[in-house]
Amino acid sequence: VIDIRKLYGESGMFTYDPGFTSTASCQSAITYIDGDEGILLHRGYPIDQLAEQSSFMEVAYLLLHGDLPKKNELEEFNYIISRHTMLHEQLATFYRGFRRDAHPMAIMCGVVGALSAFYHDSTDITDPQQRLIASHRLIAKMPTIAAMAYKYSIGQPFLYPDNSLSYTGNFLRMTFGVPAEPYEVNPIVEKAMDRIFILHADHEQNASTSTVRLAGSSGANPFACIAAGIACLWGPAHGGANEAALNMLREIGDVKRIKEYVARAKDKNDPFRLMGFGHRVYKNYDPRAKVMQQTAEEVLKELKLSDPVLDVARELEQIALSDEYFIEKKLYPNVDFYSGIILNAIGFPTEMFTALFALARTVGWVAQWNEMISDPEQKIGRPRQLYVGATQRDYVPAGKR
Ligand code: ACO
Repeated sequence: VIDIRKLYGESGMFTYDPGFTSTASCQSAITYIDGDEGILLHRGYPIDQLAEQSSFMEVAYLLLHGDLPKKNELEEFNYIISRHTMLHEQLATFYRGFRRDAHPMAIMCGVVGALSAFYHDSTDITDPQQRLIASHRLIAKMPTIAAMAYKYSIGQPFLYPDNSLSYTGNFLRMTFGVPAEPYEVNPIVEKAMDRIFILHADHEQNASTSTVRLAGSSGANPFACIAAGIACLWGPAHGGANEAALNMLREIGDVKRIKEYVARAKDKNDPFRLMGFGHRVYKNYDPRAKVMQQTAEEVLKELKLSDPVLDVARELEQIALSDEYFIEKKLYPNVDFYSGIILNAIGFPTEMFTALFALARTVGWVAQWNEMISDPEQKIGRPRQLYVGATQRDYVPAGKR
């Protein structure tokens, strides 16, 4: 804590807190995390119960509205979301402006931001009804946007949504189906994918959610705010970690090489970190990682696949969890450690992993954005700084410097 009276001539104190490790930026009633105990609750419900017994649409409703929906409320919500799955046809042209090898996250930043140019009737943030429509649109359109980014990258035609399918089933069909052939959704894969979406739906004031709130605090429209969240999520220390974790496990390749990588992670002179390990808030096992590991086992069994990477992951976890460095620094597997193995088994290329995270986190982003906009105490986010630059000096013409 720095006394700024002498520095700035103002009364009072402010805190210098790089990375906001101990500064709350808002009040929120959506998600609770106890990092020491490894507890994650959405609106009071433990994440493992939601992952086991609920569905992504139910969790979306819960995050947005505060309570689990009754049967008729869930049916109505599913219906509303299914009515918004289509993208404006002109957006297909927008995709064609990207290079085929563009990263799906680059496409998603652009396309989601561009929604504000197409859906003018849901950009007035002072109107609660428009805010709700924008929220429904974002949740409904993200699977279509992500699937189109994938189809574009592999040169296949876009598939229109099939609203007779579930939210997740529809996404799988738009991604892996082809127009010439019927596509049957594998219920185990659908359940696993839905569970992955639940596990990524919200995580209180993480970097991308804080970005969405900060962008939204100026009154920016919701589509622009979610595009900002996608940009932030892309980083390898955040949403990009699942891609990085699988790449690392593949690079290790063999259980015999694990010790070498663990030693590198501990070496102060080596910037290498075990991807999928460690968390700003969890100083215990990430509760999502446990469900993710179990889901990885189920999916590989169902698809009759054996992936040596899963053996490497299991063994790496055991070695790291009994190593003093990781014990002392309280580094445990996080949600990203096993998710890449499941997504790879389902057939997603690594570039799509963060896009899937963005799809799921959109639900949390819109819930948090709505909470912020409806808060009567909401102000524009405006962090202060600790100035460390030059003191005042006079301008000198170029020839006299
Ligand atoms: N491997 C090796 N050492 C690590 C790791 C790791 N994965 N993570 C942290 N450490 C060490 C750091 O070197 C540091 O050591 P020091 O105290 O000797 O300097 C100490 O643990 C604390 O690390 P910080 O970076 O200060 O912790 P912070 O809370 O800022 O970082 C983060 C958290 C970014 C997640 C970090 O653990 C990391 O980089 N992990 C790998 C990337 C990853 O998996 N990200 C996904 C996060 S979950 C999500 O976004 C959904």
